Amino acid sequence: MTILAIESSCDEFSVAIMVDGQIKANIISSQIEDHTIYGGVIPELASRLHVKNFGWVLSAAIQESQITFEQIDCIAYTANPGLIGSLIVGKLVAETLALYLNVPLMPLNHIQGHIYGANIEEKFEYPLLALVVSGGHTQIQYLEKPLDFKIIGTTQDDAIGECYDKVARSLGLGYPGGPKIDKFAQNGDENKYALPFPKNDSSYDFSYSGLKTASLNLINKLKQNGEEINISDFCASFQKTAVDTVISKLERAIKEFKPKSITVAGGVSANNLIRKKLNELGSMYNIDRIVIPNIKYCTDNAAMMAELCNEYLKIKQNG
Ligand code: KG4
Ligand code: ZN
Repeated sequence: MTILAIESSCDEFSVAIMVDGQIKANIISSQIEDHTIYGGVIPELASRLHVKNFGWVLSAAIQESQITFEQIDCIAYTANPGLIGSLIVGKLVAETLALYLNVPLMPLNHIQGHIYGANIEEKFEYPLLALVVSGGHTQIQYLEKPLDFKIIGTTQDDAIGECYDKVARSLGLGYPGGPKIDKFAQNGDENKYALPFPKNDSSYDFSYSGLKTASLNLINKLKQNGEEINISDFCASFQKTAVDTVISKLERAIKEFKPKSITVAGGVSANNLIRKKLNELGSMYNIDRIVIPNIKYCTDNAAMMAELCNEYLKIKQNG
């Protein structure tokens, strides 16, 4: 079974080839440099660059995997959620290929793809609890069996990655801010700046607009008072609050749902503190499998969409 998968929901255009469950190519054209000057992703620019890049990404994936177009059995692509213009480019490429090759087309969900990105190198045991932390989403999903997605908690406003990016911008660290805050936080004092713990209630929902506003207000106040901001200490204090929020809710979900595996997915799953805390939680609650994705499958990529497609095909085959 040969799957060609396309991911184009935001500012990356990616094509992956999977042959019998093995990733043979995962080519990603990143636009980070093009958007950095604006301090964030410009949707119109993202879709125009996808149109410019899809051809070479597709050829590179075919070349690297050493397959021919005729060997492809199924085309998968990200149908939602994402930037509409960016999604349309991926859909057009996928539909054209499927029509030309006369093979089935599989539209897929981006967040479900992120979750299955963790399943590429290490397989889940079910039930599974997945913490989804990306630029657009913050969720806890419960899967009693493969592909049985249930969102048990979600953000009521901003996503954690968005919060990282806005705080980083205000500190003058540039875009994307998550990796930069993560790096500075390594050498900082996490107790230096006091920030509020967001949505500390009994639900599994999140709220990051409060932490964002409180962080931006504190940065402005310090600047107005002429006080020097210690970037490492600020990043460490912010990171501790942002991460503790998701981890404390995940811990409560572990107690209630008693999963056999836990995982973390989405761009923010590349974060050092989140990865460390997930391991700690797993050991503390004797979870059989703590599935932490390879860094290359954390931010947007098509390999995760190929893995999700493969999982759907397996279930279809087994009835
Ligand atoms: O999943 P993703 O590539 O795109 C969306 O679907 O949103 O996630 C991008 C987000 C950005 O907000 C970026 O700042 C964040 O992931 N990110 C990180 C780290 N690496 C990427 N946030 C915190 N720490 C990191 N190491
Ligand atoms: Zn994503």
